Amino acid sequence: MKSSVIQCAVFGNPISHSASPWIHALFAQQFGLNVHYQKMLVPMGQLTIALQHFREANGFGANITAPFKMDAFDYADQHTERAQLAGTTNTLLFKNNICVGDNTDGIGFMRDLKKQFGEINNKNVVILGAGGAARGILPVIISEKPRHIFLWNRTPEKANDLIRQFKNIFSIEHFTSNSTIDLMINATSEPFFKYAKNKNIFYYDLNYGKHRVSFSNGCDGLGMLAEQAAESFCLWFQEKPETKSVISALRKYLKRYSR
Ligand code: ATR
Repeated sequence: MKSSVIQCAVFGNPISHSASPWIHALFAQQFGLNVHYQKMLVPMGQLTIALQHFREANGFGANITAPFKMDAFDYADQHTERAQLAGTTNTLLFKNNICVGDNTDGIGFMRDLKKQFGEINNKNVVILGAGGAARGILPVIISEKPRHIFLWNRTPEKANDLIRQFKNIFSIEHFTSNSTIDLMINATSEPFFKYAKNKNIFYYDLNYGKHRVSFSNGCDGLGMLAEQAAESFCLWFQEKPETKSVISALRKYLKRYSR
């Protein structure tokens, strides 16, 4: 018997580069689920309209990417605890006329960071960026009890806002050239790590593709991409997909399709 098609999609701007439909197709295969996962290019300021259309077309699960993660948080009727903490949302579930907002970036990032770098307990960590991506990973970083967290952002006021938001649970400092660092995380949309090769620092770039870190003491965000997708899948279908084979297939796929 043919099961009915489950409608999922990723919303963002730009969106053509997104590997999410490809990843979710592999996850769905693992469980024999009939999932139709599309890319949705959303004009700036029109996320609500785009999501409304999706719901009317029987939309079930959505991923939200830049620059709409905070708008998606505002859109959701209910939030998971981790989305509430981050104040930003990358996953939506539409069920019984209710929209639930989740944030799987943090857990996806931490799962991959532990594989690539190890534990961050007692380490000095600097985060570059103060947008949706930085907000998404801050709660899990804090929960792992690093020694210090430093923050740098091109627009210092946004770094101040973030430091204020988390000041009751962790004291975050502004990054200066005197700060001693074990781990540097690029949570901006810029490829900052091209020439950063201090052997005492591990560089983790949340981005992937053109941001690929090619030296040994660093990595890009491909593992995180697969892990956060696996958590979204789990929210939608209560099944945890295997990611190892998907990550290596994804690496080959991106090599073939990126110039
Ligand atoms: P995301 O959801 O991917 O975090 P975002 O919320 O738009 O997207 O945040 C983008 C981040 O990249 C911000 O920290 C932004 O810095 P500003 O707050 O100063 O805008 C940072 N960013 C984008 N372009 C940058 C550039 N050319 N140089 C430095 N930082 C940049």
